[in-house]
Amino acid sequence: MARDAAVVWHGFTQMSAYPGNSPVTVERAEGRELIDVNGNRYFDGISSLWVTTLGHRVPELDAAVIDQLGRVAHATLLGNGSRVAVEFAEALAEVVPVADPHVLFASDGAVAVEQALKIAYQYWVNRGDDGHRQFLALGGAYHGDTVGALSVGDGGFGTAIFDQLRFPVLRTSGYASADWADKMVACIEAHAPSLAAVVIEPLVQGASGILVAEPSDLALVGRVCRSLGVLLICDEVATGFGRTGKLFASEWAGPDFRPDLLCLGKGITGGYLPLSATVASGAVFEAFDGPDLGESTFYHGHSYGGNALGCAVALRHLQLIEEWDVLANVVAVAGRLSTRLAAAVAGQPGVAAVRQRGLMAGVELDPPEDASRWGRRVCAAAVARGVLLRPLGDVVVVMPPLTTTPEEVDRVVDVLSESIRAVRAEDVG
Ligand SMILES: Cc1ncc(COP(=O)(O)O)c(C=O)c1O
Repeated sequence: MARDAAVVWHGFTQMSAYPGNSPVTVERAEGRELIDVNGNRYFDGISSLWVTTLGHRVPELDAAVIDQLGRVAHATLLGNGSRVAVEFAEALAEVVPVADPHVLFASDGAVAVEQALKIAYQYWVNRGDDGHRQFLALGGAYHGDTVGALSVGDGGFGTAIFDQLRFPVLRTSGYASADWADKMVACIEAHAPSLAAVVIEPLVQGASGILVAEPSDLALVGRVCRSLGVLLICDEVATGFGRTGKLFASEWAGPDFRPDLLCLGKGITGGYLPLSATVASGAVFEAFDGPDLGESTFYHGHSYGGNALGCAVALRHLQLIEEWDVLANVVAVAGRLSTRLAAAVAGQPGVAAVRQRGLMAGVELDPPEDASRWGRRVCAAAVARGVLLRPLGDVVVVMPPLTTTPEEVDRVVDVLSESIRAVRAEDVG
């Protein structure tokens, strides 16, 4: 711990408090359990920050990385190609809900969003259109920590300090409001000629506390964007690759719901390697056609974008989702999680609400007025009981791997319920 705190600067972490918050120092993993340097085991209840899908050390995924290592670990995609990147992009193109898809790779979710914003902006410039320069985003939105992604994000997490760096965007209420879609539609109708794109996290606003939307509302927003010629950016960094019970959350809104730009990350490699992608429709892609070195080119790219090891594991991961019928497990186990949370957690003192879509759940705590850091304390109590959980403020996120078993769901729910009871007893008695 002392060695860690001396040299590693942890993200979203006050380093002076870090050692006192009993962090887990992971050494290895087995299946869905992480094992710390002292040999203690923890069920990975947050899928290592929402990235792990099939579990850790999956032999098939390990083999895909090792096999690719025997060919090449990395080769740039700037102006050149890579066989495995082509193979993965082809496989992805078969399954994404985007018409005539073209894949621009990067390494992190925030950058997938950043790329989508810049593509949407330049799309209109390339078409010689002088309007269409603004973005419309949702209240409570979170799209990552780079400055563009922060701009379409709605603050929170102590990011107000960067407000002067944010470019201005239009914003309507997020999924916390039942009429979010009507408000967004009214804004699109009022501002269509000035909008470069509308940005949403389809179905679930994850980082704002697992707020959920109805598929019919998504479909409505999609229809209005289409009919008024406004680009739709769907950020599926958190919801993509099976998390909600379909391969992509956008699919819940029906076959006509087709984002113009789709942002992917996190689970894209099953949680193995940093890879992300912005998938553009053919119509968007074509607006960038032009002469070599000409102005219509998209002058953007990252050193490790489309990393060969990442693409190899991502390709095998996509195949395994199909071969193992992972989505069926998500649906079944999500049903169990819902039943167990309703029975053991929802009505318990200290709990305000439970929200869930697929294997994304948020338990909103209801701390006594003078209590502090409930989210953190409940999660620390869960960690002490062998389940790794992490809060978003006073919302405990339950985001287990997609291959989680019913018995593991029971373990997570029992530990969570016990942890809430224990923390409440400390404050209320
Ligand atoms: C919806 C959404 N978009 C973007 C991001 C940013 O992804 P990354 O942390 O890989 O940059 C996140 C991360 O939580 C997210 O939930």
